[in-house]
Amino acid sequence: MSQAAGKANAGATATAATPRLQVGGSFTLGRLSEGVILGLAAVSSRESVDPVDMALARTLEEDRPDLVKPPVDPDDIDPASPNRRYRLTMVRYFPLHDDDRRDVVVMRGALEAVLAKAAISRKDKALIRRNAAWAQGRGWRPLAVATAPVTGRDKVGQFTVEGFVYIGLGHAKPLPNEGPADWAWVQVWSASLRVQHWINVAVVFTLSATGYIIMDPFFGPTAGEGGDVGFLMGWVRLIHFSVGFLWIVVGLTRVVAAFTSRDRHLRWNAWWPLKTKTDVKRLGQVVGHYALIKEEAPLFLAHNPLQQLTYTGLYLACGVQMLTGLTLFGLYHQTNWFWEMMAVPTHWVGIPFIRLIHTMMMFFLWAFVIVHVYLAVRADSLERHGGISSMINGGVWLRRDAKPVDAPEIG
Ligand code: HEM
Repeated sequence: MSQAAGKANAGATATAATPRLQVGGSFTLGRLSEGVILGLAAVSSRESVDPVDMALARTLEEDRPDLVKPPVDPDDIDPASPNRRYRLTMVRYFPLHDDDRRDVVVMRGALEAVLAKAAISRKDKALIRRNAAWAQGRGWRPLAVATAPVTGRDKVGQFTVEGFVYIGLGHAKPLPNEGPADWAWVQVWSASLRVQHWINVAVVFTLSATGYIIMDPFFGPTAGEGGDVGFLMGWVRLIHFSVGFLWIVVGLTRVVAAFTSRDRHLRWNAWWPLKTKTDVKRLGQVVGHYALIKEEAPLFLAHNPLQQLTYTGLYLACGVQMLTGLTLFGLYHQTNWFWEMMAVPTHWVGIPFIRLIHTMMMFFLWAFVIVHVYLAVRADSLERHGGISSMINGGVWLRRDAKPVDAPEIG
């Protein structure tokens, strides 16, 4: 992350009585350089015995002697307290940019406390939290830095979040050379696809719960034991059928979108990712990578071919579930040609077999959901691409030097 300061991992050793703190570097949101963020975090009075101040001072001395660290009058420091987890320091003539010296007030403290008080855009907030969480995972503690301009007569303006420094004890893992400028946020999934995704989640959950009760009415009184079953199963079945028909409508809109949408991720040809020899080769590379045979696999912005084939299979499974559901429903309504036609498969394979397929598909969907959630969490944690939140906000994070093979326009 912070290149120059990142080398400071050798770190600052405080006195025997204080813990051995290291400064791992700094993260900037881009307005100030990483060195300036370090310098701002380090401003303190010369007499300070705060272990963080001492670690920062030592880091600057050893690794960034070029950075100016103006002395601060102890009266200009308003220390943090349990109720206000940041410190305020007035600094005179601080060189924020090369020759641009200004009076500023520096807010330094716990990330969330600073984010709550200082101005920051929604995107920067996501970016800073993402980097902080990642650094925390490697054993570092982010110490946020915000600045406010001081105008005539010591009037303090609005605070703006600038970045943070990494403070850690001896066990913190070194950070690679990577900064926010190395990442870009790319919009991928359309709003309609995301809405459908979450409708599917609710629908599959409801149909599974009611379907399971239809399969095995395990609660409430049973007629066999002489209990009054009332209309309980009627309601359960009514919910199952109603939500089932709603799901069919949602599925049909997805099919219509596949042939009418201008979004290439929604188009029908995305369902079959093996159109050329290169596609087949890429599938082989992805499978090899998943099987731990190949170290590298091509990068895809949207789904890789293996994911895509899995989702195509899932769509087919959902189609089978809808059709077998309609077949079973048709059995109750043998009064018109449509339901007579829907029930025809029961004449070929028998009603129990259709029920068996309908039930097995339910267990297949449960297995899919478990693996799907596991893989989504795993990929998001390892690749840091924001895959999970992409199903809410539609975008993923991509390294700027990345060249996804399915989006040659990027990179
Ligand atoms: C996620 C989707 C679905 C799941 C998990 C699911 C699950 C189940 C289960 C486990 C049963 C009990 C099977 C048995 O023992 O007979 C069942 C019954 C049934 N399902 Fe579904 N189902 C789903 C979708 C649908 C759809 C889309 C329809 C169509 C409207 C439908 C209509 C029916 C019907 C008519 C029955 C028989 C009810 C009865 O005989 O009382 N299901 N479902």
